[in-house]
Amino acid sequence: MLEGEAEAPSNIAIVKYWGKRNSALNLPLNDSLSISLEALKVRSKVVFDPELSKDKVRVNGVKLSDEEVKSYASRVLDRMREISGKSIYAVVDSWSNFPSSAGLASSAAGIAALTLASSDALGLKMDPKELSKIARLGSGSACRSVYGGFVIWHSGARDDGEDSFCEQIFTHDHWRDLVDLIPIFTDEKKRISSRKGMSVSVETSNLMKCRLEFVRETLPSVLDSIRNRDAKKFFEMTIRHSNSMHAIMMDSFPPLIYLNAMSLKVIDSFGDGKIAGYTFDAGPNPHVFTLRKDAESVEKTLIELGATKVIKSDISAGPRVGKKG
Ligand code: ADP
Ligand code: DP6
Repeated sequence: MLEGEAEAPSNIAIVKYWGKRNSALNLPLNDSLSISLEALKVRSKVVFDPELSKDKVRVNGVKLSDEEVKSYASRVLDRMREISGKSIYAVVDSWSNFPSSAGLASSAAGIAALTLASSDALGLKMDPKELSKIARLGSGSACRSVYGGFVIWHSGARDDGEDSFCEQIFTHDHWRDLVDLIPIFTDEKKRISSRKGMSVSVETSNLMKCRLEFVRETLPSVLDSIRNRDAKKFFEMTIRHSNSMHAIMMDSFPPLIYLNAMSLKVIDSFGDGKIAGYTFDAGPNPHVFTLRKDAESVEKTLIELGATKVIKSDISAGPRVGKKG
């Protein structure tokens, strides 16, 4: 039996990934940019066992269906088997350090942790760039969780995906004053998966072309705002990029509405970008970026708006391979 273990951070995209040019390889239509989060981590343990006849995955103690395993984790494990030349199936156990009922996306961190753990188990010495390409096969956003700090995912142009990988652009301590406040408003059970949702948008949204242009034109200013620690510009760009993706969702047919009444209250309260910048993925719970000096007042507002809990996250230094402690 071959064993490996790793922990990876969740990431929140500032410049979002919403739309693929190739679904089998999770190749995106645009570059995206994310921040890895210290407070939301997932640990995965992988055991390759010659006795198994298929891959098995448990997340927080709950067994995933064969269909789910096939469409996500096994895409990573298949590639690892191909590279190592070892045709052995694996059992994966994954735990998040935050309640799964909080409705916070954890698949990116889980699949990144699985990628690192399986590479370790098989004794493959791969650099983060290679690992990001393999994590991408499991789930697009997972490729950004292979790094800490501020991460860019280059969409690439090749059909085989060899130029679609991530790199760290700034380390976790580049902007120490920046914090992410994550209010929990709902446990968010029923929604259309990102995978299904983005395919509906690619097929039906007329605004998609316009958004791709917007991303190309504004990515340099997002990078500048981070480089210069320009909070005002960063908050504005964070808000605009989130709204741009949600406009595409609304423009899809049938429309994809991931935001709820609470989300709209957050937009209303912080939309001027003066002390914070919000961003929403495919769900109603926001990530609200602010400066440390304003965190208390932003948190107070989020609680007044109805948050039952606010998670405060620093920027993660990156994943760790090996057992805990
Ligand atoms: P998100 O985290 O982006 O909201 P979901 O919770 O819908 O996405 O998860 C998408 C898929 O990712 C699940 O169907 C499951 O197959 C896979 N997945 C989620 N977490 C893990 C994990 N920790 N390890 C392996 N696969 C996972
Ligand atoms: C809204 O990475 O979950 O979070 O590649 O199909 O697995 P697949 O999709 P996924 O989509 C994430 C979409 C997003 C935006 C982002 O993280 O960039």
